[in-house]
Amino acid sequence: MKVYNKRLDITTDVATFKQQNKTIGFVPTMGALHNGHLALIKRALDENEVVIASIFVNPTQFNTTEDLVNYPRTLDSDVELLSRLSTDIIVFAPLPNEVYGDEMKSITYDFKGLEHEMEGKFRPGHFNGVGTVLKHLFTIVSPTRAYFGEKDFQQLQIVKKLVEIEKMSVKIIGCPIYREESGLALSSRNKRLNEIQYAAAPLIYKTLKQVKKDFGTKSATLLSEWVSEQFKNNTTLVLEYFEIAKVSDLKSIKRKQEHVKYRAFIAVFAGKIRLIDNIALN
Ligand code: PAF
Repeated sequence: MKVYNKRLDITTDVATFKQQNKTIGFVPTMGALHNGHLALIKRALDENEVVIASIFVNPTQFNTTEDLVNYPRTLDSDVELLSRLSTDIIVFAPLPNEVYGDEMKSITYDFKGLEHEMEGKFRPGHFNGVGTVLKHLFTIVSPTRAYFGEKDFQQLQIVKKLVEIEKMSVKIIGCPIYREESGLALSSRNKRLNEIQYAAAPLIYKTLKQVKKDFGTKSATLLSEWVSEQFKNNTTLVLEYFEIAKVSDLKSIKRKQEHVKYRAFIAVFAGKIRLIDNIALN
């Protein structure tokens, strides 16, 4: 199994694959891999001749040093998990200077308003960091297809906008949210939940499912009030935001219209751990 740290090593391999006209599937990750990531990798293996996974905790997309420092780093077990899927997967696990060069700085993007909604309001600069690292990684890996989970639905929409802005030829593929039996969406951050938080967290998806059920008969405003009520007296989970938004521009709505696609989005704190989730409503 190839595990590269240096940009030059991966670009040399990529140049050979390009000469051989091989399709390259790319799964960018920040490591602490779980079954959700593995589902993306499996899909990439099915659809491409070569698969590259990056493992890079990207400093520019974190809002607090505390979150960056506490982000789980489990490179050895990540590589072990990947090698069980296929030893042909190429892992790119660089240090920041291999990605950013001497200056680790975000580019300021205009994602046409997508960056100002939801996560954008609560994590200023986050999407510039995501856009910047992906621009660099896409340039290095030169993928045919890149795979992203719908748990970060706003990120997925932003990445589609990024490749439009940067005129990159990679095809962005969104994959369904991977859940535990309890309904909890898989996330690398789940590893940091204590027993009580872990037991409480399935309420997030349970609430979203009820919203989906009631969406046909209740207004968005009424549903938002109902969601706030569900978390009001919860001592473990603190609601940061709940929004029903149009899929096209992620703007939240009060009133629904015919023939428009909507999704419900939620962010919740369990102590200092921030969990997000979303569900398609129609
Ligand atoms: O979703 C993630 O894990 C990260 O935001 C990504 C896409 C790997 C960029 O650092």
